[in-house]
Amino acid sequence: MTKRLVGKVVVVTGAAGGQGAAEAEALTREGAQVIATDVSEAPGCRRLDVSSERAWAELAAEIRESYGRVHGLVNNAGITWRARIDDVHPADMARVHAVNVTGPLLGIQHLTPLMGPGASIVNVGSSAALTAHYPVAYTSSKWALRGLSRTAAMELGPRGIRVNTVHPGFIDTMMTASAAPAFREANLRETPLGRTGTVDDITPLVVFLLSDDASFITGAEIPVDGGLTSHGGAKSISDALRADA
Ligand code: NAI
Repeated sequence: MTKRLVGKVVVVTGAAGGQGAAEAEALTREGAQVIATDVSEAPGCRRLDVSSERAWAELAAEIRESYGRVHGLVNNAGITWRARIDDVHPADMARVHAVNVTGPLLGIQHLTPLMGPGASIVNVGSSAALTAHYPVAYTSSKWALRGLSRTAAMELGPRGIRVNTVHPGFIDTMMTASAAPAFREANLRETPLGRTGTVDDITPLVVFLLSDDASFITGAEIPVDGGLTSHGGAKSISDALRADA
């Protein structure tokens, strides 16, 4: 089978583990020259704190020097903070937004000068960006990322740069491993496909959106959540009535 990303230089953030590591592997398999980055040390990962403007400027300078161009950016790095409305501190709001919103903004600002027509940016949102969700700092940051993504798609479209958003549901990674068991069980109850997701459910879509096969897709938002956000709460009603029948 033809590799779809041969000759493309792609930056992935948050690639030390979880979805980012799987995305970096999948993109490499498709022939991309992947620059895997993370705030944590990991084999094969270059250090990059997405909330640091200086770190992005240094990365952009390195890419300019080594490759001259960049064709793809996956803004995957993200953090959660599970405080509710009553408990959340402004400092935690700021910290979560710095990584989940300002991080992707800085990536776009620093790497798009190295991008030309055909380049593609994928932002990793969340099912929490499509509904209400109790961790308010995380939820509001992912909603803000949607606004950033759509604005970027509008602003960068005339330069031939596409920007799309993937919204994962419950995916088995370190992030969800730290959640209470009840969180997993409640997610399963609300997910029509009746299972949690894996990193391999996400990567094919990221590869597709970075490839030229998606050349007329921009400003799109695609849930990869087993149907979690599609029913607006109607599943529990349906399940309750079925159980009653
Ligand atoms: P993860 O916690 O396994 O991986 C996140 C990675 O981001 C880690 O390697 C971490 O070191 C890195 N990171 C954190 N802060 C950073 C910073 N300041 N700069 C650079 N890297 C940083 O989580 P997972 O699941 O792989 O998350 C990937 C993305 O998917 C995140 O944006 C997350 O919000 C999103 N997501 C995850 C879901 C899930 O169920 N796991 C559901 C919906 C969205």
